[in-house]
Formats: sequence, C-alpha cells, structure tokens
Amino acid sequence: MTISITWHGHATFSLDVNGTTLVVDPFFAGNNPAAKTAVTAISAHYILQTHGHADHIADTVALAKRTGAQVICNFEIGNWIMKQGHDNCHTMNTGGGYNFPFGRVKMTPALHSSGLPDGSYGGDPGGFLLHVDGRTIYIAGDTALFSDMGLIGVVGLDVAILPIGDNYTMGPDDSLLALEYLNPKVVIPGHYNTWPPIAVDVADWANRVRANTAVKPIVPVVDEPFTV
Ligand code: NI
Ligand code: MN
Repeated sequence: MTISITWHGHATFSLDVNGTTLVVDPFFAGNNPAAKTAVTAISAHYILQTHGHADHIADTVALAKRTGAQVICNFEIGNWIMKQGHDNCHTMNTGGGYNFPFGRVKMTPALHSSGLPDGSYGGDPGGFLLHVDGRTIYIAGDTALFSDMGLIGVVGLDVAILPIGDNYTMGPDDSLLALEYLNPKVVIPGHYNTWPPIAVDVADWANRVRANTAVKPIVPVVDEPFTV
C-alpha cells in the first residue's frame, strides 16, 4: 500500500492512510501565508498536534469542531482544546505510544518550546513516530538537531518530515546531520519559506541531500498530493 501525503504549506501536512486522514498542525489560508486552501475545505479524522505555537494550532479547534476529528496531542494542549468546547482529544506525553485504529503513534521529544497563542502553558513540544500500514513515518515537529534522533532512527524509518527553515528550528546544515542519525529512506522538508526569516533555497537543500546522503528528498508542492 502507499500512503498519500499533501503539504499545505509551512508545517501543515495531510496523510491519507487507507482512507483515514491525519492532519498535522492545522494552519491554513487566512492564517498561513504559504497555504492555498482554507480550513473549511479540509477533511480530517485525526489531528496530530506537535506543539502549541500559533503557526501550528491556529486552525486546530475550527477543524476539529467541524469534522469531529480526534486531536492527538500532549496533556496540556488537550486540556486547552477541551476548554474551547472540543472534547474529542487523545492526550499523550513524550515517549508514550498508543495503538489507534489506523496505526501506532508514539510521541517523540523535540527541542523547542510550546506556549499556546493566549499565553497558556502548552507543555513540552514533541514530534510523532507513526507505524501505519507497515510503514514508519517520523514527523519531527519544530525542533533543533539532537543526537537522540539516533534512537528514533533505530526502528528503521521509511519517511522523515523535518523542519529546515533555520532561525526557529534546525536549518539546512543541521537537517543533513539529522539524516545521519535518522537514516530514513525518504526526507520531506517543512517549516521553510513561509516568512523571510525562514527563507531557504530548497532546490539547493535537495541537491545537498542527494550529494551527501543515501536519502531521497521529496520537495512537495503545496496542495499536490504525492505517495511514499
Ligand atoms: Ni514552534
Ligand atoms: Mn513553528
């Protein structure tokens, strides 16, 4: 089976796994300058929330309420979402995994911060390691490079989605080092070119990945699904 992935701009992705749609960090047109689609046109069965920053959570509550999607997130963000009237949250914390109907999700560490848009405490930032349909997909979230990525890579990764924009997260240089620890078959970049401080020459980044690693880079086009 193949898994279909769509990049919506910035760090927002949809993954279609055998008809189940997972939306990562909902941030859509009107809020997200890189997005073309409004949240009202998005479908979701589950929402994977890496952390509480507005460029990841601005459209989460709207999407969750309209679709009824279950939000998979840390405990503090889950409480914040439930206070806004959406009760369907599955809360987790770093290092914990859970078997959902679509596959297993483990919350991984991220080296970042996680304050919520209204100043509420958002717990620790994270990423997700998915075991879905026989494939392993690592969604790093917003993070710096850290050597414990080697522990995440031990399971054998099919796909890694990494931030490359620099300034707020790791940049192109550190993303290449991250690939040495993670050793996925495919890498997909995110969290770049949304605003000037995270501008990246993504074609140059992809050339460096091909020249320096055995990993295949896939540079997505906004709203054009591709399979992995
Ligand atoms: Ni962030
Ligand atoms: Mn961010």
